[in-house]
Amino acid sequence: MEKSILIIGACGQIGTELTLALRETYGNDSVIASDIREGNENLMESGPFEILDATDYDALEEVVAYYEISEVYLMAAMLSATAEKFPMRAWNLNMNSLFNVLNLAKEKKIDKIFWPSSIAVFGPNTPKENTPQSTIMEPSTVYGISKQSGERWCDYYFHKFGVDVRSIRYPGLISWKTMPGGGTTDYAVEIYHKALAEKSYTCFLKADTELPMMFMDDAIKATLQLMDTDAENVKVRSSYNLSAMNFTPSQMAESIQKHITDFKISYEPDFRQAIADSWPSSINDQEARRDWGWKADFDLEKTTKEMLENLAP
Ligand code: SER
Repeated sequence: MEKSILIIGACGQIGTELTLALRETYGNDSVIASDIREGNENLMESGPFEILDATDYDALEEVVAYYEISEVYLMAAMLSATAEKFPMRAWNLNMNSLFNVLNLAKEKKIDKIFWPSSIAVFGPNTPKENTPQSTIMEPSTVYGISKQSGERWCDYYFHKFGVDVRSIRYPGLISWKTMPGGGTTDYAVEIYHKALAEKSYTCFLKADTELPMMFMDDAIKATLQLMDTDAENVKVRSSYNLSAMNFTPSQMAESIQKHITDFKISYEPDFRQAIADSWPSSINDQEARRDWGWKADFDLEKTTKEMLENLAP
């Protein structure tokens, strides 16, 4: 039978590009997009779309039965900065949506799950440089706590019930098709929009805050690669470390200044600085390289070029 894929949270920053990439690979009608709101034109017009609340098990079960879904990509989540403002809402959304999908797989209503984790699973006591796959994890944010708990549940459902769930700890993601919403790494997207529109940007993190980042094309490539590989290659069932580049806001500004010479950056750190300070500055992803052949294509210079070219009016 042909596989039928459901993306939950299809209108978000990752969901939009993932839906389009999956539609390209498996055909428009085999990839069902869903979200609690409608998304951009490209997404809405390229294939089936359902309004769906990921925390509503019955509604989810109905969509899965109707389209005979075999794989679910659960991209709906409240990100780090917003989650600090609405802790209970974030916990409920991030955890209940995951349980709903894991339980569907446990009941054998779906075969395979992708669920994203994040560098936010690490905390202030984690080694900051070249952070290993397995290390101290004491997340200090609501979002990080939900992702770390989620990882433990994924691992548990795999070992206890044989659920084929696969996951990546995404770094900050940089993209031009859809804006990120409510994250701490959002500055790395906003900066390009402001550089083009106003030639200046006020960053909410300090100049020297180094964080792991990735261009969206790499994130999509990794996701499809991990979902494609044979189950026995997936040795990590919590979530894989994944790395592409690391930089600070001031290094990012320098890379933009190579194209927009009069671009200026200033710094007004807010509450997001403490979140960023609790996260690693670089990630060791040797397990992803070893198990399913991961390798990034985009560094900062290439990312800047792509972003400025695609966002230019
Ligand atoms: N980019 C996310 C955030 O900043 C991290 O997963 O919240």
